[in-house]
Amino acid sequence: MTTNDSPPLTASQRMANIVALAKRRGFVFPASEIYGGLNGFWDFGPLGVLLKNNIRDAWWQAMVTCPPLGPDGTPLSIVGLDSAIIQNPQTWVASGHVAGFADLMSDCRESKNRYRADHIVCVAVLAERGGAVQNLGVLSTLDGTDAAEKITAKAQKMLRKLGGGTLIPPDMHTAKAFTELSEAERAAVIGPDVENPGTLTEPRAFNLMFSTHVGVFQNEANKAYLRPETAQGIFLNYKNVLDTARVKMPFGIAQVGKAFRNEVTPRNFIFRTREFEQMEMEFFCPPEQAGQWYEFWVETRLRWWREAIGLTPAKLQRRDHASDELSHYSTACADVEYRYPFSEPKFGELEGIAHRGNYDLTQHAASSKTNLDYIDQENGNRRYLPHVIEPASGLTRAVLAVLCDAYQHDASRASPEWLKIKPSLAPVKLGIFPLVNKDGMPEMAEKLYLALRQNHTSQYDAKQSIGKRYARMDEAGTPFCITVDGESLTHHTVTIRHRDTGTQERVDASQLKPWLAAALQ
Ligand code: GAP
Repeated sequence: MTTNDSPPLTASQRMANIVALAKRRGFVFPASEIYGGLNGFWDFGPLGVLLKNNIRDAWWQAMVTCPPLGPDGTPLSIVGLDSAIIQNPQTWVASGHVAGFADLMSDCRESKNRYRADHIVCVAVLAERGGAVQNLGVLSTLDGTDAAEKITAKAQKMLRKLGGGTLIPPDMHTAKAFTELSEAERAAVIGPDVENPGTLTEPRAFNLMFSTHVGVFQNEANKAYLRPETAQGIFLNYKNVLDTARVKMPFGIAQVGKAFRNEVTPRNFIFRTREFEQMEMEFFCPPEQAGQWYEFWVETRLRWWREAIGLTPAKLQRRDHASDELSHYSTACADVEYRYPFSEPKFGELEGIAHRGNYDLTQHAASSKTNLDYIDQENGNRRYLPHVIEPASGLTRAVLAVLCDAYQHDASRASPEWLKIKPSLAPVKLGIFPLVNKDGMPEMAEKLYLALRQNHTSQYDAKQSIGKRYARMDEAGTPFCITVDGESLTHHTVTIRHRDTGTQERVDASQLKPWLAAALQ
């Protein structure tokens, strides 16, 4: 958002600014940067880890500590789990990941680059040369907000090499994904990083699981996988939980943790990475109730992103999957989507809510030869394999959505860039400052800091002008700054400056704790 008279930032400018601010202020760093980084891996810095943990805690609170009330007003029963990243490799055979967890990729024989085939956008480009319209061919690039710019730049370069001409602006509405073209059409495409047609290979499946070896022998018998989702660890422990946690149908098992996917083209900052965190919950229920719970969870999750995380409602939507889009395990799926700057005007996935039926338990029961039936003692010992509704969201992607939603740009402020993060999620809740670093003000401010940091993440800062200190906290998304001034010493009051408006109010220092408890919810 731009709130002054200068022209609004374009989506790609906004995205570039967000990535730069995330680095500059210690939210997100490229992983192993001093060695040149590693594509698809990112590290969370001091502010980033606080933000990520706050989102994780909000999810855990809404799922495990205080799960929602069901349609009949009864609190749902959901328990937590923390399973191993590496499980018996048979897990991934039974789940279908060894055979089917793949993306289509295409290699460029000339540039040696590898692309996700459905991410290559192709468009026919025309130019006027010598009074006639000439076909420059079907150019391609990776999809994103800058796709039209990249195609145009490449076409201009080709035209210059041909001796000049006027480019007819490419019509991106006619663009198609590489995978949507026929084999003959694909053979004529000019790859994203080359100038000659026909260098892209036919799309072929590429399994996304990272493999490793367990033990000293690096052979096939010892091959294991880093989990590509946290969900399977939950299915493997379904019986353990049933036997130990006194749960009965319907109930859920929730888990937050790392997942790994060897994505063909990791991109868009932390949107698609090779190592990321998921927040997943498997909700087990009698088969005949699955449809009703599916609808319940889609709406509950959409509301959570709106209300608990505070994402702009107009930038959130529910998208039901068409039947040909469903993963190998689901009978229905809806995504909670967010309008990221790089997806504008479209939306991109934030969370998927899948109706997995009894696919996973059936597979693991057969593969492990373990009876996973539920015995319903309240209903004549009826036996059945429960059906599962799975709200599966990305914690890494949640951080991205929060940063994108919070980013504000206003050249008229002392802090032209600032983050309007919901106070309850803000990494640092309070900046605590003496107005000047003398006359007893630092002593009182330090005392306040020592008291308030016990309940709220706080930063004490006595350096630079007060305006610069406010601007620094605005960039970090800190909702309130408390300043001790001359009047504080005589009247025992402080000023509280509000990040969003820049306005200040004077509060009795003895009332700070209740004031903050209410304001930071
Ligand atoms: N257990 C089901 C499952 O894993 P998914 O749609 O593949 O479903 C769930 O993943 C969520 O995990 C996604 O909605 C997204 O937020 C996040 N996610 C998936 N792949 C990701 C990646 N490569 N980088 C970051 N987040 C990812």
